[in-house]
Amino acid sequence: MAEEETTREGARAKTPEEVRPRGQASIAQMLIIGAIASALGIALGLIIDWFPPAASTQANRIDTVYDVLIVVSVPVFVLVTVVVLFSVWKFRQRPGEELADGPPIHGNTRLEVVWTAIPAILLVALCTYAYVVLTDIEEAKAGETRINVIGQQFAWTFEYPQADGKPIRSNQLYLEEGHPVRFFVKSRDVIHDFWVPAFRMKIDAVPGIETSYRVTPNRLGRYPVVCAELCGLGHALMRQTAHVVSSEDYAAWAEKQRQPAEPAAGGGGGGAAPDGKTLFTQGNGQSTACGACHTLADAGTSASTGPDLDQGLKGRDAAFIRQSIVDPDAVITQGYNAGIMPKDFAQQLSPEELDALVSYLEKATGG
Ligand code: CUA
Repeated sequence: MAEEETTREGARAKTPEEVRPRGQASIAQMLIIGAIASALGIALGLIIDWFPPAASTQANRIDTVYDVLIVVSVPVFVLVTVVVLFSVWKFRQRPGEELADGPPIHGNTRLEVVWTAIPAILLVALCTYAYVVLTDIEEAKAGETRINVIGQQFAWTFEYPQADGKPIRSNQLYLEEGHPVRFFVKSRDVIHDFWVPAFRMKIDAVPGIETSYRVTPNRLGRYPVVCAELCGLGHALMRQTAHVVSSEDYAAWAEKQRQPAEPAAGGGGGGAAPDGKTLFTQGNGQSTACGACHTLADAGTSASTGPDLDQGLKGRDAAFIRQSIVDPDAVITQGYNAGIMPKDFAQQLSPEELDALVSYLEKATGG
């Protein structure tokens, strides 16, 4: 309407061409700013140390994926941001332009093809690359060791199958530097998630099924083992340690683990009486080891999910110790919460095993 194009004073509004000439200069300026900002963004993204130390061959490959993602995605982000900010500044409304309208635009086929094709090519390329890396890091390695990882509220048990049948059970994860392992992950109760951030690999422990992943540790050291799935009151405490050690240290550790598994005395045909200390450090195969959550000097455990038993059970009698196992919420140690220790140890342990555990703990804590 002709009336809309006139101001109250009757003057005709200027068209944008009249206010400022169009030019290629704006686009060139924008590209230069975008290129500089992208370079700075990429440099910053690569300089910042985002992750904990990488301690597996898989970790190195995965960290490279992240670096590539930074190099590709930062320019896209910067470009979009620069175009938006530059347009807001450059094409802002100026005095006298209140009623001016921009030139009519009816689409631009070439631009639309370009801004569809570039993201599509980027996504397909990144997906292909990520798929290749995933296939590589999941590849079976010759001579890999099987380790069963069993999650239970609120500790992991690591089981090393042995040629002679009786597996080594430990609540510490020991791995040999440079030796490929495959973890088979299970859960005895709810969903947990087995994660060693330094290895960069992670998988859910789901009741009823077995999941797995492979890792080749390549850096000596101790690294946190974390549960990465909210699994109950003790979830945040479900942390243990992965020890990556030399071949000699690994062999020595494995040898030491085999010792307590031997029955103390030959008890004839039936089967040896349960040994309280072994139950404490290794569990019975159905239950998590006490030592996965508790510190006890005599057993050489140092976990802190539950109370320190050298303190908490010091001088206590067998009845108190038994109650603490069977009905853990009856008496709560100061600083700890009810509901964290499973209440079904009485079902997981046989009466003989429970007796053995109680009398071992009574002895070990000077009751
Ligand atoms: Cu187990 Cu969170």
